[in-house]
Amino acid sequence: MKGIVLAGGSGTRLHPLTHAVSKQILPVYNKPMIYYPLSVLMLGGIREILVISTPDHLELFRVLLGDGSRLGINIDYAEQPTANGIAEAFFIGEKHIGDDAVALVLGDNIFHGPDMSSILRGNMRNIDGCTLFGAAVKDPERYGVGEVDAAGNLLSIEEKPKRPRSNLAITGLYLYSNDVVEIARDVQPSQRGEREITDVNKVYLEMGRARFVDLGSGVTWIDTGTHDSLFEAGEYVRVLERSQGVRIACLEEIAFRSGFIDAETCFGLGLDMGGSNYGQYLMEISSE
Ligand code: G1P
Repeated sequence: MKGIVLAGGSGTRLHPLTHAVSKQILPVYNKPMIYYPLSVLMLGGIREILVISTPDHLELFRVLLGDGSRLGINIDYAEQPTANGIAEAFFIGEKHIGDDAVALVLGDNIFHGPDMSSILRGNMRNIDGCTLFGAAVKDPERYGVGEVDAAGNLLSIEEKPKRPRSNLAITGLYLYSNDVVEIARDVQPSQRGEREITDVNKVYLEMGRARFVDLGSGVTWIDTGTHDSLFEAGEYVRVLERSQGVRIACLEEIAFRSGFIDAETCFGLGLDMGGSNYGQYLMEISSE
């Protein structure tokens, strides 16, 4: 399975924070935002990842993440010249996807919970169609919204409905079989001029090939699209890291614990950042 992190967009809802930098580079407590979605793909065991961003910002991600080799993964980069919608990621990433299935995660989405890795790995097996992950929210009108029956089958999906049929947001993590490339190409731009991911998902729903997984209470999901939710995400990470002594979305640790890099490499990465407690933490865990 291949992975894509879409880190595009103009970040208008976060102005003036995003006038000069990419939204997905902004700090969420002690790490750049993109670490969080990237950690999701790595927790699913994905090692071939494409980062898509605007021509202005792509270089920032290259400087931050390089070719991925220090994490034992492979990271490539591609441009999305204009904010034409999430569904464009599939044809921008067509070569990267090749003949494989693909997981797409939005660069401003944070997922955290003890079950995340097993949820991902379990759902990545035998994908035929799309798998969508839902989370209960207080403000569903801000998101894609899923309506499910008592058995958990998906009945409808609507993008930012004025009158939501449920409180289940469709989060920014999607699994697709290879035909998503063709399906996305056929999707026409919406009224706001974007190729909507919800329209891609609707095609799968009509074919009876859309699965819905409720993330439930074992996973916290935060979309960092507003000043408040960005601040809350940082607070969430800070509180958990300080009270439990864990690290959330620590890519080097995930690479080490997943066997992508060995203890010595992990220690070396810590040493490079030895002046920070992040670096100290890496040195500690690799010596355990
Ligand atoms: C996008 C999707 C929406 C989804 C959300 C999750 O919205 O269009 O369906 O629920 O991401 O973060 P956007 O953030 O582009 O408004």
